[in-house]
Amino acid sequence: MGFRKDFAWGAATSSYQIEGVGKKSGKGMNVWDVYVKEQGKIYEGHTGDIACDHYHRFHEDVAIMKEMGLKAYRFSIDWSRVLPEGKGKINENGIAFYNQLVDALLEAGIEPFITLYHWELPYSIYLKGGWMNSEIVEWFGDYAGLIAERFSDRVTHFFTLNEPQCFIGLGYLNGVHAPGLKAPVRDTFQMAHNVLKAHGRAVQMLRIRAKQPIQVGYAPTGAMCYPETESPKDIEAARQQLFAMEDLTNWTWNVAWWSDPVLLGHYPQEGIDKYEAYLPPITPNDLKLISEPIDFYGQNIYNGKCCRMDEDGHPQIVKRYEGFPRTANQWPITPECLYWGPKFLQERYDKPIYITENGMSCHDVVSLDGKVHDTFRIDFLARYLKALKRAVIDGVDIRGYFHWSLMDNFEWNYGYSERFGLVYVDYRTQERIWKDSAYWYRDLIWENGESL
Ligand code: FCB
Repeated sequence: MGFRKDFAWGAATSSYQIEGVGKKSGKGMNVWDVYVKEQGKIYEGHTGDIACDHYHRFHEDVAIMKEMGLKAYRFSIDWSRVLPEGKGKINENGIAFYNQLVDALLEAGIEPFITLYHWELPYSIYLKGGWMNSEIVEWFGDYAGLIAERFSDRVTHFFTLNEPQCFIGLGYLNGVHAPGLKAPVRDTFQMAHNVLKAHGRAVQMLRIRAKQPIQVGYAPTGAMCYPETESPKDIEAARQQLFAMEDLTNWTWNVAWWSDPVLLGHYPQEGIDKYEAYLPPITPNDLKLISEPIDFYGQNIYNGKCCRMDEDGHPQIVKRYEGFPRTANQWPITPECLYWGPKFLQERYDKPIYITENGMSCHDVVSLDGKVHDTFRIDFLARYLKALKRAVIDGVDIRGYFHWSLMDNFEWNYGYSERFGLVYVDYRTQERIWKDSAYWYRDLIWENGESL
């Protein structure tokens, strides 16, 4: 037994990271368009103004995906490209761009998976209070409705939000991402609650305005946890640690706070007790909206913490040994997370799972032979996907895997200094060069992961 016949072997990107603004595109500003212009915020002053110029080069990029044999492609829509003010007037140029992209994908036999929000908050909405303003629930819902209306005749898979942990934590708690605020902790809980309500409203509006039955999911993140040994005690330690509540200073790095309300209809009791003094009013109606049923669960998984049960029966995070393997951006390499993560998540949430992101940053260079020999990425992928296959064999219902990323792109505050792509981008010329891993992934898709 192995991966399903219709397993969605895919790759993922996001709009701000690849599109570029585009000439006369009519796009409105989002918080990233504004934030990158502030001095000292982004590595060497890089911006996403041009990025991979995907706005003009999407045909070439879809051709690459086709040649790679991708079955699915996860991309995001820039809210401010289709609704420049976040609400009201529609930018038909923006709709036309995504229409052409969707058509090109379908023509290439690639299933489009749309993410509604990969951090592209329209700047006008931000000026109205953004996630602090509870009216955003309806604004986001209206935007979701528009997307359903315009695309669901051809697109049937949607994700609402990408990584609320990051856009609230990095955007408003430690301020390294747009809009770069260090807001009072109490406000971040209010925003988080509005975020979850907006998710629920988007699920409703997608379905209400859809032209045919659609499938809707959610794409949060969080460090996974895996046991030091496979003893029942260590496994239990990893399970408990995965759903445990972080300290206040770091509170958004949390799986259960963001997923329990969506999937189980309530916030975790441990969090209610721990964060009590900072919480906004939470009503039964809010929870009903937040838990509007979804069809599948997406999870972005990059790494995990190793856990053991200590002698007093408390989960403990095991310190990594000296010289522990790491990616170019210092993330630990922990393939076990693609086995234990989906397993624990399915146990708790009981939904089909998509790995909505996974991958690594490498110090990729074009070698003298003109090729990009990213053996580290191939090794990483082989290890992680082997672990994922083990989960599949154990009966976890995994429907797809989206590699982050299709191509190198704008890595937020690190600018272009981190390369996560299967395809190398020379930003001076916009030339795309297949890395060795892209060929490897193509072959793996071809044999549906049999050789893993
Ligand atoms: C995730 C983001 C994605 C990219 C990868 C490396 O947190 O969703 O946009 O930055 O990390």
